Amino acid sequence: MSRVASALVRANDWLRERFPVDQQVLISMGSEPVPGHLKRWWWCLGGTPAYLFIIQAVTGVLLTFYYVPTPDQAYESVAAITNQVRFGWYIRSLHKWSANLMIVAVLLHMMRVFFTGAYRRPREGNWMLGVLLLLLTLGFGFTGYSLVYEQLSFWGATVAANILQSIPLIGPDLAGFLRGGSHVGSNMLTRLFVFHIGALPTLMVVVLLGHLLLMRTHGVSPLGSPAGPDAKRFPFIPDHLFTEIAVALFLMFILTFLAIVFPAGLGPKANPLVTPEHIKPEWYFFWAFRWLKLMPEQAAVATQGLFIALIFFWPLIDARIRKRRPDSELSIWIGAGAVISLLTLTVWESLHLLH
Ligand code: HEM
Repeated sequence: MSRVASALVRANDWLRERFPVDQQVLISMGSEPVPGHLKRWWWCLGGTPAYLFIIQAVTGVLLTFYYVPTPDQAYESVAAITNQVRFGWYIRSLHKWSANLMIVAVLLHMMRVFFTGAYRRPREGNWMLGVLLLLLTLGFGFTGYSLVYEQLSFWGATVAANILQSIPLIGPDLAGFLRGGSHVGSNMLTRLFVFHIGALPTLMVVVLLGHLLLMRTHGVSPLGSPAGPDAKRFPFIPDHLFTEIAVALFLMFILTFLAIVFPAGLGPKANPLVTPEHIKPEWYFFWAFRWLKLMPEQAAVATQGLFIALIFFWPLIDARIRKRRPDSELSIWIGAGAVISLLTLTVWESLHLLH
């Protein structure tokens, strides 16, 4: 044996003694067979937000090296990242576009799960964890947008705190907690920052681990009816890993294209004394914003809360419906109705904001 080979063997023995991980167990865990339909992106869409979350974490850490979470420096630090820091514009644009794509991917993944009935027994709990992941993803979007401290994001955060305030019973306490007092200022910015870079990522990782663990335990739902047979199976490593790597490379190309052609911009700096003519949240809150304009604030907030509760408990509601009418297609109609209504509200609000 050459000297290099024997050095490698010794290094391997040294490592295995210090880290006694059973390699056979690792290999068999990685090569577990997964259903053949996971070759299609529609069926393995859950991997996409997971990948985008990793991009968010990496670019987010890089941005945090330069971002200053105080009302008098936040905006300037974002401007410096965009205009002065080397490749700052690219990292910031990747972060922004990846956040948007992550929301799109989560919604598409959720629609796949809904319309294929993959939330049904025994996966109801995983659907509920999924709803928490959706709320966390939206929470990232809201807090991140507010950190920029430009006029629109500042007033967006102010309006959000006022909306929280109108929730019956707990509203004033919730709003006070978010603002860190009675008005929007440095306390709120600190809290948004802590949520964005500390609390939300920690919760995301914990809930995501639970989601993936449950998914692995139940297995991905089979094609067709949840009890239907699987056609082909293939090993997770290397086959499915290659699919995910191909998707990741494609997404990186799309993200870079978007970052170059539509780099993240910067509006006017926040002015707490001047309310802008139009307050505009990010596109994924357009539906909620339009809803708020259609009825009194308390009614709008209460119905939105009810809507989220309905989504969360949907697998249990659906199970009751199917107990009475096993062949009912009601879930498809309700799902399609919800998607069309949300799209209509979103387009309606965007047309209004364009004028
Ligand atoms: C950060 C967000 C999320 C990530 C990273 C994620 C990740 C994943 C992954 C990797 C899978 C395996 C199957 C696949 O790739 O489609 C999966 C399955 C699943 N997800 Fe998600 N998910 C997220 C959000 C959601 C949401 C919002 C829901 C629904 C409200 C949801 C409900 C489910 C259910 C029920 C399954 C099992 C589906 C089946 O077995 O076919 N997930 N998720």
